[in-house]
Amino acid sequence: MSDLNARVAATRAILERIAAEFSPATFASSLAAEDMVLTDLILKAGLPISIFSLETGRLHAETLAVLDKVKERYGHEIALYRPQAALVDEYVGKNGLNAFYDSVELRKGCCYVRKVEPLGRALAGKKAWITGQRRAQSSTRAELAVQEHDAAHGMEKFNPLADWSEEDVWNYIRAEGVPYNALHDRGYPSIGCEPCTRAVQPGEDVRAGRWWWENPESKECGLHLVDGKLIRIKSVAA
Ligand code: ADX
Repeated sequence: MSDLNARVAATRAILERIAAEFSPATFASSLAAEDMVLTDLILKAGLPISIFSLETGRLHAETLAVLDKVKERYGHEIALYRPQAALVDEYVGKNGLNAFYDSVELRKGCCYVRKVEPLGRALAGKKAWITGQRRAQSSTRAELAVQEHDAAHGMEKFNPLADWSEEDVWNYIRAEGVPYNALHDRGYPSIGCEPCTRAVQPGEDVRAGRWWWENPESKECGLHLVDGKLIRIKSVAA
């Protein structure tokens, strides 16, 4: 059995275990490549795991188009969670529409209003949530475990693709003909909100186009922090 086949089999087994032991479980999809692999595995197996996306109000049209691609391909509608209008108005009124370029604090404030607060609503009442994070994506994810306890949300958190490489992800997508975000073919390996994401140059880090004006260690939006801290940050050599 090839490495990829073994990884796929292990990932299927994890998803089946989550469905059996941690119901109700939900999968957070950013609609990027990794999340399409998990979407394909969950929907083809008919697993009782809900799928949601945080529709921040600042996503690319190409990202939103993936919602239709999923509906067409699998007959499944991904649930959307949107920011609270009052919180967005307050943030924009106080700081301006594009204040996230001004400081890490203001950028994290925007991520909080548009992603972290809605995530709390999406996870309410669940026993576990699933993400498409991989260890190789960044220094902040180097110690990522397949299963962790998310104390902030009081539930288990699973990262079933933790040990997948970027090549594994694309080999799976091509082999299974999985629909994906058109931006991936235009130099965007990692995709977040439109104003905070740009294409990378060949050879650049996969997350180099995310919050590109910040240091790599601050580049998390808050979805994957516990008590406001990164729990598994790799020590940075002095
Ligand atoms: S981020 O924290 O820097 O934005 P990244 O884009 O790498 O994260 O995505 C990592 C995982 O976080 C995704 O696989 C997905 O599980 C979750 N995630 C990120 N953005 C969203 C979103 N808009 N909606 C739902 N889940 C998301």
